[in-house]
Amino acid sequence: MRTVFWEDHQLKMIDQRVLPARFEIASFRDHKAVAQAIQDMTVRGAPAIGAAAAFGLALAGFESASSLTVDLLADLRRAAAVLKSARPTAVNLAWALERVMRVAEKKMEEERSASDLRDAVLNEAQRIADEDVEINKRMGEHGAALIDDGDTVIHHCNTGALATVDWGTALGVIRTAHEQGKRVHVLVDETRPRLQGARLTAWELEQYGIPYDIISDNMSGYFLKSGKAQKVFFGADRVAANGDVANKIGTYMLALAAHDNGVPVYPVVPTSTIDLSIAHGDLIPIEERDPEEVLDIQFQGERVAPIEARARNPAFDVTPNRLVTAIVTENGVIHPPFDVNLRKPESNIS
Ligand code: MRU
Repeated sequence: MRTVFWEDHQLKMIDQRVLPARFEIASFRDHKAVAQAIQDMTVRGAPAIGAAAAFGLALAGFESASSLTVDLLADLRRAAAVLKSARPTAVNLAWALERVMRVAEKKMEEERSASDLRDAVLNEAQRIADEDVEINKRMGEHGAALIDDGDTVIHHCNTGALATVDWGTALGVIRTAHEQGKRVHVLVDETRPRLQGARLTAWELEQYGIPYDIISDNMSGYFLKSGKAQKVFFGADRVAANGDVANKIGTYMLALAAHDNGVPVYPVVPTSTIDLSIAHGDLIPIEERDPEEVLDIQFQGERVAPIEARARNPAFDVTPNRLVTAIVTENGVIHPPFDVNLRKPESNIS
């Protein structure tokens, strides 16, 4: 089953807020509800929110009563702005919306009917979703070559089928290596504060029969320094032109500890996550979420923090390119210098 799919004229998505306690499918008929679902993380993970936003635009097309393409296009532009504002860091969101809007604009230039335009928007959203699965499988093949039989891998956040349309990015690499018969053990960073590792990655690894242990985020230094982990894999929400990688908060500290101990660090990213318009990582917008996500935690059944406590909650950090060993994409493994190699025609990044 896909994480994000179109069925019965609705967008359907696995509700990632309630896993692993419950497996529920949420249904959407209007784009504003999709924007809300992206914001509240019913759907999350850069490629998954890109596909969800594209389908959200398709819903906006069907919501619009306009019979003139010019009016329909204006409604779509307004909807795209609403969807884009849901989360700022993952570039896949803007990338998918721009791709669908280009198709809509082309249909208008061709003087096609409003109904043709609506269908074209839905078809493009469906193409984005289908391509995502195929791209992930290709990244899986390229990345699995970096995993040796018997490796223990540290993985941050959730980058599996749930974070994409299906299969996954970094977790897709681990899954491919497992299917190739390599013995891989995963140390799953629990990934405070939303616990995507402990809740979602652990749930996925259970389904795939891949052995794992959950570790709290502050344990990775111990495992890296004591030689108990051989590789670090994670995904990304945006990669700048110089190879700086924005990913889930905590990735930077993990990469630092890996680098200090000579352990290779591999972000696994579709080329749609690489933003050549951003020169370096400090320019990537970092989402700051509700502090309650940090404070909403119990120990032995009791609230941890004093009731009046304040917190900070930046959702992402930037790992500088010097800590990155190589970047796995669907077109192959890209090595440093990233400012040169990401722009090479064979990297196929636009
Ligand atoms: O806040 P989230 O859960 O949407 O953050 C997700 C991540 O940081 C993932 O690592 C990233 O999107 C890559 S997933 C294929």
